[in-house]
Amino acid sequence: MQTDRILIVGGGIAALYAALAMAPRPVLVIVPEPLGMGASSAWAQGGVAAAMGPGDRPADHLADTMAAGAGLVDPAVARRVTGEAPDHVARLAALGAPFDRDLHGGYMLSREAAHGAARVVRVGGDRAGQAIMATLIRAIQAAPHVQVLTGISAVGLLVESGRVAGVEIEGAIGRGSVHAPAVLLAGGGAAGLYAVTTNPLRIRGQMMGMAARAGAVIRDPEFVQFHPTAIATGEDPAPLATEALRGEGAHLVNALGQRFVCHPMRELAPRDIVARAVFAETEAGRRPCLDLRAIPVCKHFPTVFAACQRAGLDPARHLIPVTAAAHYHMGGISVDARGRSALPGLWVAGEAACTGLHGGNRLASNGLLEALVMGWAAGLDIAAEIGARPAPFAAPLLAGEVTEPDPAKVALLRQTMTQDVGVIRDAPGLTRALATIAALEADAPPAFLNMLTAARMIAHAALSRRESRGAQCRSDFPGQLPPKSTLLTLAETEHP
Ligand code: SIN
Repeated sequence: MQTDRILIVGGGIAALYAALAMAPRPVLVIVPEPLGMGASSAWAQGGVAAAMGPGDRPADHLADTMAAGAGLVDPAVARRVTGEAPDHVARLAALGAPFDRDLHGGYMLSREAAHGAARVVRVGGDRAGQAIMATLIRAIQAAPHVQVLTGISAVGLLVESGRVAGVEIEGAIGRGSVHAPAVLLAGGGAAGLYAVTTNPLRIRGQMMGMAARAGAVIRDPEFVQFHPTAIATGEDPAPLATEALRGEGAHLVNALGQRFVCHPMRELAPRDIVARAVFAETEAGRRPCLDLRAIPVCKHFPTVFAACQRAGLDPARHLIPVTAAAHYHMGGISVDARGRSALPGLWVAGEAACTGLHGGNRLASNGLLEALVMGWAAGLDIAAEIGARPAPFAAPLLAGEVTEPDPAKVALLRQTMTQDVGVIRDAPGLTRALATIAALEADAPPAFLNMLTAARMIAHAALSRRESRGAQCRSDFPGQLPPKSTLLTLAETEHP
């Protein structure tokens, strides 16, 4: 099928916000699940980081972002994103996002790890992602330039004469293709590739895998962020216990009753440090727990409270067992300040992209912020390049058989990523992971091949980076080399 609509793959905050920025150019959004379901954005508990508190400044937010990022943050990108943050919060508020306010109408701000100030605008305590998504969905439903097709996944990029010309798609009733003047990939990150994750299970590196298979440059894929406090009660995905709880004074204890985070900032140390501390306690069999007994969880953190209740735990009385879980992909498809990838015709935004904002360790709640700032920028840039063309509603044809990924093979991949490409890495484990991935690639259907390609990029880059920096911790290379980003194509992974 051919459409003159700009094609957006994905339905999270970056995708929907970019679609609004493109008005009035006709847009087609394709998404596997109904809007609001299945996107990591909707599960974000913290909120949007923005220097909006008394005495706080974008320069301070920039400094904290740079310090957390372990030497790999692009200063120009970070200056721009932190500088534009308050404007995007104001735009969301104008669209109706119900941010928590004090009696004087000021924003109520949460404190999260490695931020020097309370700086996270929030909704309902821990419901920012859900509420911002609801706001954007309402705006999209009222926007005549946007058509949304649900039940459709992109599984490949069409490249013609060196330009991305559309996507291959799959749905319940078959396969097909959509040719479009420009493609924006905004379908999420890769943390669902891991057996222990806080992400919706569908978020498994498909965007990065698809782009890498088409020849895109991938940046810093080894940097997967592990969240220290996923609730360890056996749910898959593991429910998140937001870092804002620690900002309110919650602390971590092990089975011996000891606080174990050895850092001047204790539980509010950068996320990679706290995640490694939690992982070490788990490995040692000392059952790390979050002590929430002094926090009004039921009143102020309803999502966390509900997760505890599902496991029969009362946070006012019980310690809550936690684990480090794959949470956010800081690497991704390399893009410039306008969201352009190395492939003409392909833009990327949100967690699928790597802009250089997060470096080796993302600062809490900079993820939704980046989705907003860079989603908007990509939307404006595509609209400017493509120009306004009238376009009727698109109706892609789907036919033929779709081969679903084998659940046993997907489970093996996820187990491999957690065991061998996890919080602590070494050459034997990473080499083993690459061999498992290569074996699974034989005869893999496109949807699974995208996941495997993403896994390959992460494991290959982790093996090649012979140092420990930010979220990349190599037990066999604990020292640091001069800071340098990884830039990698799929072809290069064939030569470790
Ligand atoms: C959290 O609320 O702890 C997660 C926020 C984030 O990952 O940015």
